[in-house]
Amino acid sequence: MTQSRRFRIAAIPGDGVGAEVVAAGRQVLDALAADSGGALEFAWTEFPWGCDHYARTGAMMDDDGLERVRGFDALYFGAVGWPTVPDHVSLWGLRLRLCQNLDQWANVRPVHFLPGVAGPLRAADTEDLDWVVVRENSEGEYGGFGGRNFSGRGPGAEVAVQSAVFTEAGCERIMRFAFDLARTRARRKVSSVTKSNAQQYGMVLWDEVFARVAADYPDVETESVLVDAMAAKFVLRPQDLSVVVASNLHADILSDLGSALAGSLGLAASANLNPERRFPGMFEPVHGSAPDIAGQGVCNPVGAIGSAALMLRHLGLPAEADRVERAVRAACAQGVLTRDVGGTATTKDVTAAVVDHLGD
Ligand SMILES: NC(=O)c1ccc[n+]([C@@H]2O[C@H](COP(=O)([O-])OP(=O)(O)OC[C@H]3O[C@@H](n4cnc5c(N)ncnc54)[C@H](O)[C@@H]3O)[C@@H](O)[C@H]2O)c1
Repeated sequence: MTQSRRFRIAAIPGDGVGAEVVAAGRQVLDALAADSGGALEFAWTEFPWGCDHYARTGAMMDDDGLERVRGFDALYFGAVGWPTVPDHVSLWGLRLRLCQNLDQWANVRPVHFLPGVAGPLRAADTEDLDWVVVRENSEGEYGGFGGRNFSGRGPGAEVAVQSAVFTEAGCERIMRFAFDLARTRARRKVSSVTKSNAQQYGMVLWDEVFARVAADYPDVETESVLVDAMAAKFVLRPQDLSVVVASNLHADILSDLGSALAGSLGLAASANLNPERRFPGMFEPVHGSAPDIAGQGVCNPVGAIGSAALMLRHLGLPAEADRVERAVRAACAQGVLTRDVGGTATTKDVTAAVVDHLGD
């Protein structure tokens, strides 16, 4: 008899469509557990943090929130941000606060082209396209260093400085992570994204560390590509990509481009990981709170369900993760699609179709 495995998950739906897509992902995981004959169980605790919480309390999350989520096996996150709160306040007050304090220094963002979803790159009709963006998630352009001054000089005279911080240790660990990931994939290749022609300090250090780390992985192909050229390459030669490692800002932008090429921002999944496993990982769709469609029941749950699959893999359940990913592909191939990818299905229809296909 298999032993029951129970996972404690902190659900943080956040704002806007976050609540809708987190409910969808939970439904899929609960269906998986119900079908496991008692082998699997997910124990959910929901934290009502976000912009409504800010309106009530003046803070995006509880003061002791970090302590409370630290002991969970994983965090399942929706999205944060609403027009009532400035974006830098909501992002720093919740999502970045969690990522930074739980030392989730690697952000894994797969780009999957799904059957039945008409992306602008129709090569996906004849070829399986998928690659992974590995984002440095702790420093770089989002290190939070800088300041504002000189407002006292009068209107129009204020100055702001926002510095990017690259440490050798930070570059090295994310690059080793990318190389290790490449070794698990059919194509063993790591593409490093740089801008060392213009950014002669941080990005030159990035390039030097990449060359040094690459020498330890002679079985993995490498290339170093300027970020602007990489944006073009995502469109023109995506079949040449496997693992793309990039700084915090570069990877943020490129992963949105990748998911838009695959058909919609609503499809993209992501995992924020502390690879040493000192802290739980946080799994979330790449998209934001989508105020333009929130509350209508039409948002695409595929990014959030894909993030749940990444969570399963991280929790040591690779067969279950494969099952969820296969079910998503089957639901899409069957044409059960939300309107952002050309269909008419609701969030609930897509979620139900994924749950149905778990049994395939
Ligand atoms: N990780 C996060 O929590 C995160 C990420 C990005 C933006 N934000 C926040 O979200 C708010 C809105 O930002 P934005 O409009 O730039 O980005 P967004 O991702 O919320 O929306 C961009 C576009 O994509 C569409 N979209 C997003 N998710 C979708 C889904 N699941 N299904 C179908 N369509 C979807 C939206 O309708 C919109 O047209 C802001 O407050 C921003 O700061 C949060």
